[in-house]
Amino acid sequence: MTGPSSNNQSKNGLIGALVVLVAAVCIAILLWVLGHSQRDPYINATLDLEGSLEQGGRLFRINCAGCHGITAQGNLGPNLLDVSERRNDAQLIRQVVSGNTPPMPRFQLEPQEMADLLAYLNSLK
Ligand code: HEC
Repeated sequence: MTGPSSNNQSKNGLIGALVVLVAAVCIAILLWVLGHSQRDPYINATLDLEGSLEQGGRLFRINCAGCHGITAQGNLGPNLLDVSERRNDAQLIRQVVSGNTPPMPRFQLEPQEMADLLAYLNSLK
């Protein structure tokens, strides 16, 4: 039997669920905004661009193949096959432009070149 009181209870339950849902959405939006505003502008610019696999492959052979091997199988630098499973896009970009892990040099690439290279790195399987 659904009397007036049990009706009120299910209404309260619904409102409670809605409040929780709205709070969760707010937190998700806040985290998203924070995450994006803390990213550096170079990474954002790169991620906004569509990379060309062909250009990326060319850049790789010129700049990276000496250490990572012509097929990215590894040499002085580590094997980069499946690297996208270990590193996300932002980490890959930082790896290339930061120079934080010598002897790998710091590369200065235009965002479009970085986007091309990223497309190539993500294609390595
Ligand atoms: C002078 C040699 C050298 C060159 C040139 C070089 N690398 Fe590296 N790279 C390394 C070494 C050594 C490491 C390992 C660094 C470490 O983690 O200590 C590395 C690490 C990396 C990693 C991280 C791999 C992982 O498993 O986390 C990526 C990605 C990478 N290189 C990409 C590139 C790209 C793209 C280029 C060209 C733009 C490049 N490297 C050019 C030597 C080189």
